[in-house]
Amino acid sequence: MTEPLLKVQNLSRHFGSGATAVRAVDDVSFDIAHGETLGLVGESGCGKTSLVRTLLKLGPATSGSVLLDGVEITSASGPQLHGLRRKMQVIFQDPYQSLNPRLRVDRLIAEPWALHPGVLPKSKWREETVRLLESVGLRAEHAERYPSEFSGGQRQRLGIARALTLDPTLLVCDEPVSALDVSVQAQVVNLLARLRRERNLAMLFVAHDLAVVRHVSDRVIGKIIETGPKQSIFSAPAHPYTQALMSAVPTPDPRLRGQRSRIVLKGDLPSPVDPPSGCRFRTRCWKATSICADQEPALTNRTAAPGLLTACHHADPGFSANAG
Ligand SMILES: Nc1ncnc2c1ncn2[C@@H]1O[C@H](COP(=O)(O)OP(=O)(O)O)[C@@H](O)[C@H]1O
Ligand SMILES: [Mg+2]
Repeated sequence: MTEPLLKVQNLSRHFGSGATAVRAVDDVSFDIAHGETLGLVGESGCGKTSLVRTLLKLGPATSGSVLLDGVEITSASGPQLHGLRRKMQVIFQDPYQSLNPRLRVDRLIAEPWALHPGVLPKSKWREETVRLLESVGLRAEHAERYPSEFSGGQRQRLGIARALTLDPTLLVCDEPVSALDVSVQAQVVNLLARLRRERNLAMLFVAHDLAVVRHVSDRVIGKIIETGPKQSIFSAPAHPYTQALMSAVPTPDPRLRGQRSRIVLKGDLPSPVDPPSGCRFRTRCWKATSICADQEPALTNRTAAPGLLTACHHADPGFSANAG
């Protein structure tokens, strides 16, 4: 049995304390294998960015453990944390905020090499910068420009190039295309999928809808509600919430479009300060009964689908999402 690259165990991140604490990340556990891409899907405000920031130790964990190659991140500091940062890079949602506007692209790209001496000698910076720019679909002359001279999609490409400077083993992508025009979203997703193959990168790919995640991920987790092989999640999810998400994914095959009805969720997102008893999804679920308020459903195999774990008292294997 090989150790996973990333092992997250019972991780929580709360803001504030006591009865008014916002439980942004609450007892989350998952693994990512070397070279694997895990998709993480959840609605806006459900704690995805808080999870990402806690994983990268950009903010403190309230409890739980994060192991990268067997080394604990949550308690790391100094040179050890510096070393871990090298292996784990991040791309954020907003390419307008994540790049320092005062730095020319060649400086932006070379900054990580300056912060991690010994990775690449200065004499090689120029050559490697051009190679990286070209590998993300930009050109050598872009090295002399400033971030403000680029479009949103190009800026996200710059962010990706910068994230690759230290040759990370894990790339965390927090809604990398949500802020981009729909017309360029697919290009950036395809770029990430190609880089991942070429470099055997492991990725955590975070998104608020499944349409984006399905193209890049080997395995998908919703927020603890359902997990399994990609085919099962996309073609026959058993959890009502996954079914609702799936019904919102555009079908590429026009013949199937008319056959599928969109499931629209009713009601407001529950407050993370005071989540519902039992199943957290029940207040917006059309299948909810009294057991859903009384007992939190465990994540177990409830259908005939091998490897499909579903946290729902009313898991229904009959749903077909017509995943094309
Ligand atoms: N620094 C913070 N202080 C207090 N509350 C926060 C902070 N950051 C996020 N939150 C709250 O945590 C919850 C999850 O936010 P976030 O992680 O940004 O969700 P997502 O990325 O899934 O949209 C939200 O209720 C948000 O208001
Ligand atoms: Mg977010």
